[in-house]
Amino acid sequence: MSRFARIAGTGGYLPDRVRTNDDIAAQVDTSDEWIVERTGIRSRRIAGPDESASSMAEIASRQAIEAAGIAPDDIDLIIVATSSPDRVFPSTACLLQQRLNVRNCCPAFDVQAACSGFIFAFSIADQYIRSGNARRVLVVGSELNSRLVDWTDRATCILFGDGAGAVLLEASDEPGVLSTHINSDGQYRDLLYLPNASVSLDDEKRFIQMQGNEVFKVAVNTLGKIVDDTLAANHLNQSEIDWLVPHQANIRIIMATAKKLKMPMERVVCTIETQGNTSSASVPLALNEAIRDGRIQRGQTVLMEAFGSGFAWGSALIRY
Ligand code: ACO
Repeated sequence: MSRFARIAGTGGYLPDRVRTNDDIAAQVDTSDEWIVERTGIRSRRIAGPDESASSMAEIASRQAIEAAGIAPDDIDLIIVATSSPDRVFPSTACLLQQRLNVRNCCPAFDVQAACSGFIFAFSIADQYIRSGNARRVLVVGSELNSRLVDWTDRATCILFGDGAGAVLLEASDEPGVLSTHINSDGQYRDLLYLPNASVSLDDEKRFIQMQGNEVFKVAVNTLGKIVDDTLAANHLNQSEIDWLVPHQANIRIIMATAKKLKMPMERVVCTIETQGNTSSASVPLALNEAIRDGRIQRGQTVLMEAFGSGFAWGSALIRY
């Protein structure tokens, strides 16, 4: 009998504090009009001083666990995608394991694939379940981007926000996850990166560095290709996808991918307007929102995709 991974529960968390475009325009030379037109973003959430990637992950995870109707000790693998871990080590996944009081010594580790981190983590979770090595896997994307951006750099500070999303995957006889595809190409390492404290840094280099327009061009082309590859691998055509749940980096990138799929924007889950780019949290946050508000229904086919630093990109096709 085939064994599949199926979504049993989801959760999401956004900090209370809202930073609008006007708030940013009061600090740097930009405007609400420019930001909305170029990115689709109007506001983003900013974590408070007592919050962290693990604290946000905990809230999102508790929702996913409750929705799945399981106990924390039923989880047998925890994977957290983050580029803004509380500590370099131990992993944020270990910190989450402690916060959730998972006492069964299940493996817990982080995945770092920038904005594509959740898709990479989801893909790993799927492999563990399909191979029979895990029955229930908690997959989380959690990011505290606001502490990684230079708030005097108008080219990057307008884009990012904080938050966490979580999915509880469990073994099932029926799909579930239909396929995952993940790719990386390190030749683009200098177009989008975050230096680490282990290398000596000039002050201005401590934050996210990005050549936005170059990233934009590769993102649009690459996402178009991965959509084609995903459909071909599953012998599906565009009309068979019910929902697109894209990484939320820029509304123009999202619209280009939707156009490639010939999908009306009503079938695309967009959170970018009020959340900005929450990096690895954006896909699970969008998925959770559309499941909880009833847009995504059991039995529907959902395509998730992401692109980010590395470059690293990927997709996951699921029958919810
Ligand atoms: N306000 C006003 N003007 C600005 C701002 C701003 N906030 N930022 C840049 N500009 C100016 C530039 O200085 C430039 O001026 P110039 O023509 O006088 O030199 C002009 O606007 C155009 O700049 P571009 O960078 O070419 O603008 P673009 O239309 O490409 O938009 C943006 C910039 C929004 C960053 C876009 O390129 C983008 O979204 N890129 C992709 C980001 C992305 O997908 N990242 C991947 C995920 S993130 C991750 O993995 C961590």
